[in-house]
Amino acid sequence: MDALMAIPSVPDLGPAQWVPRTDSRVLFPFNRTGLELTYLGRNAVWRAARLLGLEGWEVIVPAYHHGVELSALLHAGARLRFARVDASGRMDPDDVRSRVGPRTRAIYVIHYAGFPQPMEELAEVARRCGAFLIEDCALSLFSREADRPLGSRGDAAIFCFYKTLPVPHGGGLLMREFHAAELTALAPPPLLPTLSHLTGSMLMAAERRSRGAGRLLREVAKSFTRPVRDRARLEDIPVGTQAFDPEVVHLGMSAVAERVLRNVDADEVVRRRRANWLLLHERIGRPERATWSSLPPGVCPLFYALEVDDKDRALRLFWSRGIQAVDFWRSGHPAATCEHFPEVTALRQRVVELPCHQGLGPEDIEHVAQVAREVLET
Ligand SMILES: Cc1ncc(COP(=O)(O)O)c(C=O)c1O
Repeated sequence: MDALMAIPSVPDLGPAQWVPRTDSRVLFPFNRTGLELTYLGRNAVWRAARLLGLEGWEVIVPAYHHGVELSALLHAGARLRFARVDASGRMDPDDVRSRVGPRTRAIYVIHYAGFPQPMEELAEVARRCGAFLIEDCALSLFSREADRPLGSRGDAAIFCFYKTLPVPHGGGLLMREFHAAELTALAPPPLLPTLSHLTGSMLMAAERRSRGAGRLLREVAKSFTRPVRDRARLEDIPVGTQAFDPEVVHLGMSAVAERVLRNVDADEVVRRRRANWLLLHERIGRPERATWSSLPPGVCPLFYALEVDDKDRALRLFWSRGIQAVDFWRSGHPAATCEHFPEVTALRQRVVELPCHQGLGPEDIEHVAQVAREVLET
């Protein structure tokens, strides 16, 4: 895939992100005290599991998952029981209830792509069996159900900032209550790779905006900074991998990435993502092909989930037209293969993630919709 897609899957870093904002509201979870900023979301999952004392206990997890969040739970000593997720991405509370056993200590809920799970019912199951409720909001930053932010109900909430915002890394953990546990304090990650990622993102943005001049600037910068970049590559701690690395579980978020995070106009991010999702939905015009086929108030969509018949072919077509569509969750954690969840198998085979982020405008969305229509027609 070309490194420089005309329509990237995540927003680039622009100069505006460096300017402190005094005019915008601070939204959940940044308005809560006690939010721990980790290097990755998986580090937050591991910490939550340790703080809640899940070692040796069972956690009910959704059959539809990324995989690394489950690796983090397993690494913290938890055992997993899988629960059904239906064709519309809803974790089934009745199925969760049927999986509760004497060793159940937590129910792990993932809000996919910004869309809320049935929290009222899931919280009730957790309450009745005395289990903790963990909300994985890695894919649902700034989303709400009515007036309630996702992540505000659980005993622990996990966040992953770099999926929604232009930061090179960053996860978050919010615990509802204080839990005493011996955990190593978070340490700052190496600075050089962070600076290198941020600079790279800004140069990519410049090239995307003004093709010729931007490309020249990027080439010049590349030739002058090769030794620094080589060093940064050596020190880099990769983001977005499938594997849980216990060696980096104690790393926190860098101060420079945190600065970018704090400058974000969250209301504007939500507004633009919603407008782009709605426009894409309308212009594709095939609601039956969207896993989430309407946009309830308060949802901040991470992406548009399009269901296609031939994922490989669809991805090739999107990439060839400069659209960084993502092969969403084709496979899960190896521990999940012992049970069969046909609806999840279908989602894994069919869902393609289309960008609708705050960095895109109506012409970009029009282009994505046009290629999506082509994909669905042929
Ligand atoms: C649902 C879910 N939870 C947690 C994570 C872990 O996030 P990170 O990649 O920041 O470790 C991911 C990563 O994709 C995820 O999809």
